[in-house]
Amino acid sequence: MASLPSLTKPISQNPITRQTTTDHSHIGSKAVPCRTSLLRSGFLYSQPGSFRNTRTVRSSNQNEALVDSYIKTSDVPLLTCSEATERLKAHRENHKGKQEFLAMYSSIFGGITTDPSAMVIPIDDHMVHRGHGVFDTAAIMDGYLYELDQHLNRIIRSAAMAKINLPFDKEDIRSILIKTVSASKCRNGSLRYWLSAGPGDFQLSPSSHNKPALYAVVIQDQLPFDSKGVKVITSSVPMKPPQFATMKSVNYLPNVLSKLEAEENGAFVAIWLDEEGFIAEGPNMNVAFVTKDNELLMPHFDKILSGCTAKRVLTLAERLVSKGKLRGARVANVTVDEGKKASEMMLLGSGVLVRAVLYWDEQVIGDGREGPVTQALLNLLIEDMKSGPPSVLIPIPY
Ligand SMILES: Cc1ncc(COP(=O)(O)O)c(C=O)c1O
Repeated sequence: MASLPSLTKPISQNPITRQTTTDHSHIGSKAVPCRTSLLRSGFLYSQPGSFRNTRTVRSSNQNEALVDSYIKTSDVPLLTCSEATERLKAHRENHKGKQEFLAMYSSIFGGITTDPSAMVIPIDDHMVHRGHGVFDTAAIMDGYLYELDQHLNRIIRSAAMAKINLPFDKEDIRSILIKTVSASKCRNGSLRYWLSAGPGDFQLSPSSHNKPALYAVVIQDQLPFDSKGVKVITSSVPMKPPQFATMKSVNYLPNVLSKLEAEENGAFVAIWLDEEGFIAEGPNMNVAFVTKDNELLMPHFDKILSGCTAKRVLTLAERLVSKGKLRGARVANVTVDEGKKASEMMLLGSGVLVRAVLYWDEQVIGDGREGPVTQALLNLLIEDMKSGPPSVLIPIPY
């Protein structure tokens, strides 16, 4: 999760410009000079059997292939355990992204490590080779876990739907997650955790080894929080059928392809429509609309992921209703026509929080600016993350 701004900072009221909308098309389209990447990657140092790094980067029109490979010029060496560990460490050092991994719990080694090179999952884990795993998240905000219990309930529901037994009972999982964040010393970031059918073999059915696993990682995000309005498109990648869309499994290929489609079209994300043509959700967020008569509408959660953020926003929106700033807030079937004619459209999720949509396909939403309800809901959510009730804020004992 990106670090948040101070609460009172209002989101921009500037109308969207072409510049803003094309921002997202830059992702994945920059050429990285080979020499720079070689130096940065550190693979110029002399390893036994040196590596040659070749890197070209895919342009948005996909004319060039994206290759980031280390081609060995001599035989593939047989490594001892310590040599392999050293190389894993070197790889981690040389491939630091914008996120830092501070601590990992694994039920496989039955503890917590803060060494990123040890943050690995067995290759025979059913989640790795068959996608038989579910996951969830929770934001870490000023030393508190936000909506941990809501996310925990959801992963347990997802695990039941995926026929994954729990390796521990709910209270123990909760306690392990809190201890992992505590060991990480992270005060602002995010927690991600997985329940998996576990390792054992490479069969399709995990029934010959019933050893479910729990993994958790604490991530320090370096990205600045961005609340600028974005452009979305309608996804041409089919959405998951309700049985799979309502559980948070690790099978995110449709979500990834839908996000890539958006990036290739200069948009932030692509929005799915369900099989009846109603508005569904984005690849990792829910959507909501403010109608012309000032009502907050969210698609029903029966065919999409039941978003913790969206549900919390529905509750927080009642404060705007009681102040007369909204006429009401409810879930409903929302048609594309209603959505595109709305005065405001927003994305809702643990990553984006509340983010205005200013364009959908070629349609300007409302007056093309971040609207007052979107802004008010973002401020309410940030306030809730900083000083909400004990039901949503769990203190971390450092
Ligand atoms: C498909 C999908 N929909 C909605 C959401 C939003 O859920 P939450 O608000 O709990 O993050 C997510 C979150 O990752 C998601 O993956």
